Parts: sequence; structure tokens; C-alpha cells
Amino acid sequence: MALVKNVKIKQMNRKIDVLLGLQWGDEGKGKIVDVLTPEYDIIARFQGGPNAGHTLEFNNIKHVLHTIPSGIFHANKINVIGNGVVIDPVILKREILALSKYNIEPSANLFISKKAHLIMPTHRTLDAAYESFKKDKKIGSTLKGIGPAYTDKVARLGLRIGEIFSEDFKQKYNITKDHHDKILAGYNYTESYQEYESEWFEAIEFLKGFLFIDSEKFFADVLKTNKKILAEGAQGALLDIDFGSYPFVTSSNTTTAGVCTGLGVAPSRINEVYGICKAYCTRVGSGPFPTELNDEIGQTMRDNGNEYGSTTGRPRRCGWLDMVALKYSVNLNGVTKLIITKADVLSGFDTIKVAMNYKIDNALIDYVPFEMNNDIIPDYIELPGWNQDISNCKSKIDLPEELINYLSFIEKETGVPVEYLSVGPDRTQTIKTK
Ligand code: GDP
Ligand code: IMO
Ligand code: MG
Repeated sequence: MALVKNVKIKQMNRKIDVLLGLQWGDEGKGKIVDVLTPEYDIIARFQGGPNAGHTLEFNNIKHVLHTIPSGIFHANKINVIGNGVVIDPVILKREILALSKYNIEPSANLFISKKAHLIMPTHRTLDAAYESFKKDKKIGSTLKGIGPAYTDKVARLGLRIGEIFSEDFKQKYNITKDHHDKILAGYNYTESYQEYESEWFEAIEFLKGFLFIDSEKFFADVLKTNKKILAEGAQGALLDIDFGSYPFVTSSNTTTAGVCTGLGVAPSRINEVYGICKAYCTRVGSGPFPTELNDEIGQTMRDNGNEYGSTTGRPRRCGWLDMVALKYSVNLNGVTKLIITKADVLSGFDTIKVAMNYKIDNALIDYVPFEMNNDIIPDYIELPGWNQDISNCKSKIDLPEELINYLSFIEKETGVPVEYLSVGPDRTQTIKTK
């Protein structure tokens, strides 16, 4: 009896680690997941869709993933697209085919949750129609159909990818499409989606050759073994549908809570939460950004950091680190370990600023307010910068003292240790700081 009890306790201790963005996306999640993958057996995406662009660089290869988890370049690792993800079959097919030039053949190690929802061609058209309706209040969506696909999921009109095998799939598709056509007619929005539709159905046929799972059962079974799982976030905490700068957000829960609903695992299964943030801030698309720099400092960050969107190519807005927002994200996600990226981009600034409070109507606040609007004035402190090129540094002892102090400052303010520092886009440009 005692033995049975012990076994049970042991199984309950098996957990999932999480890695997610603490800012407005593009923190370097793809790069770091790729670096951490050797420690894991399974990498799983739990939310978002092809609005994500996760860049991996190694052996002179630079590759951007949108739907496929960032563990795919490591042989024998399983990559799961969870039920919380929305899938555009056309984009997923293109992504799979683009891997063949590296001899990566994901049909054996890419598992897709049957419950993941499909992005239909009309979802993309609706995305464009809604954005044009918003005029100067545009969200700056990637226009991949993310919002409309999640809307239909909640409205109970969506199509799950597991349904592609059912006989009445086309019929169900047409019912939802008719609904979309009515909305589009109401908007007088006439952009044609027919060409994309035929590509879409071809891609559906192509995907039928892949492995479909019930992710909640899959993870329940895996958690009875010794296999290690890493959940990979998309976007960032400040784009979360509930806690981001609404309405300038994406349509999913990008925070740790999203792992539970997006893979089908209980909250008690969450172990380490790696929170990743840049040494400064960027944002692509519209919405408030208190520390944004519309001057040559911001332009230097954009140039040095090559801050152009991985999915859309749009220039990213750049600004100093926002400690108010960072603490908010650390708390929301229960971050246990921090990863700071793009520290190399700050080399050469005499001083580095960090926003410690927000000034609104001349009053200082140290928390993210209900309305995060453009009236917020950041209250900065200044820290000494460093001059040397750090992109070839291999360990903590190679780093300039000012950077070590910057990391200690972030640790002290957030109460979370900085576990890794990234000093360049390549896999090898990663320093374990603990
Ligand atoms: P993700 O969406 O969080 O995966 O991030 P993206 O791939 O969209 O954007 C991060 C960009 O910064 C990519 O071009 C990466 O190759 C690059 N990158 C990642 N880490 C570093 C770093 O430490 N230094 C520099 N200079 N570039 C980095
Ligand atoms: P990764 O995973 C940065 C932004 C868009 C827009 C808003 C809503 O690469 O970090 P959506 O397409 O979801 O309707 O867009 O969210 N956005 C991202 N910004 N990185 C991303 O993903 C993003 N995914 C969406 O620019 O402002
Ligand atoms: Mg990105």
C-alpha cells in the first residue's frame, strides 16, 4: 500500500516548464527555446498562431518559425501544436516544406492537437475588414486571421483541425463561411479569398498525413514517464487578451495560465517559468508604449538590434526597459527564472535608462494602471552603460562590470534570478549566468 502511495506521489511531481515573453513579443523566444531544447524531450506551443515569428540562428542558418515549435531542428524531440493554437493550414504546410531543405521531415515528430482551431480563408478577410473599420484606432494586427478565428472558437462556430477527417467537414466549413460572407457583405468588404481557399483545401489534404493527438491525454500519459516538457509561449504578457494593453492586444492568453488551457494540463503541473525579456523594449503594431523613443536613440536600438518584425517586416518601435511593466509581467506569470536578451544592442550607450514609475497627471504610480494610454510619462533612473562589444563573450567573467550591475539591478527589482543572458542572435551567443 505504501509503495502504491509513493508511486502516485512521484507521478504527481512530474511537471512542465514554461518559457514565455514578458513584453510585447519578439523577446527572442525562438532562439532560447532552441538553446534549451537539448534539456527536454517535448516542446509544445500552447497559444497564438502564425502571428508569431520565432527566429532561430545556428551554423549560418537563419530560420523563422510561425506555428511549429522551436524544438524542430533537434532530432528525436517531439514538437506539439496544442489545442490552444490556431492553425492556418496554408502557412503550416509552407512551414513544413521549408524545413525540407535542412533535411528536417516533421511527419514523425510533429504532433497536432485535434482540438486546435482552424484559421479559415475568410478569417483573414474578416481581420482586414475589422482593421479597416477601425480607421485610426487600428490594432496593427498581423492580419493572419487570429482574432476572427478565436472569436469563432468562443462563439462555437469554429472548425477544429480534428474535424478534417469527418465526412461533413466541407458542409461545416460552408456554414461558417456563409456566416462570414454575411458579415463581410455588411461591411461592404469585397476582397476575394477564392484563390487562398483552393490552396487552403490542398493544404488540408497535405496535413492529413500528420499525427493528430488529444493533447490532454497525450500530456497526461507523458507526465507518467520521465520525459521533460517545455511549453513555448508566443507573443508576450503585454499582448495578453485579459492583461495586455487592451484593445491593442492579441486574442489569446499569452501568460502561464494559457499553458493549462492550451495544452490540457493542470495548474499544479507547472514547474519553472522562464520569463524572457529584452534589455530594452520593443513593440510592433499600435498601442501604448510608455518608454518609446521617437528619436535617434530609438533609431540606434532599431539599427543595432535589427528591429524589424519577423512575420511582417514592419519596423519595431523601440524604447528603454520598463520596470513597472516588467514587474507586472513577472507577477502575472509567476516567473521563477529570467532570461535577458539583446544585451549586445545596448553596447555603446553612455547611460541606460529604466522606467521605475509612471507619472500620470503629475502623480507617480508604480503599477500598470487600468488605462495604459499615451498620457503616461515614464519616471526614469539612469545607470552607467558599457562600451565594449560583448557579442563574443562566452561567460559571465567576460562581461563588463556595468552590464553585471544592470543584471543585478533587474534581479533586485523583480526578485527573480537572471539565469541566461543572450548577447547575439546565434545559438552559441548565450551565457549561463547562474
Ligand atoms: P521571438 O518572437 O520572441 O522568437 O523573437 P523574434 O525572432 O521575433 O525576434 C527576435 C530577433 O532578435 C530575431 O531576429 C533574433 O534572431 C534576434 N535575437 C535574439 N536574441 C538576440 C540577442 O541576444 N542579440 C541580438 N542582437 N539579436 C538577438
Ligand atoms: P511573437 O510570438 C510581436 C501584435 C501585432 C498587433 C497585435 C495583434 O513573434 O513574439 P494579431 O495578429 O494577433 O491580431 O496582432 O499583436 N503581435 C505581435 N507582436 N510579436 C508577436 O509574436 C506578435 N503577434 C502579434 O503586431 O499589434
Ligand atoms: Mg517574433
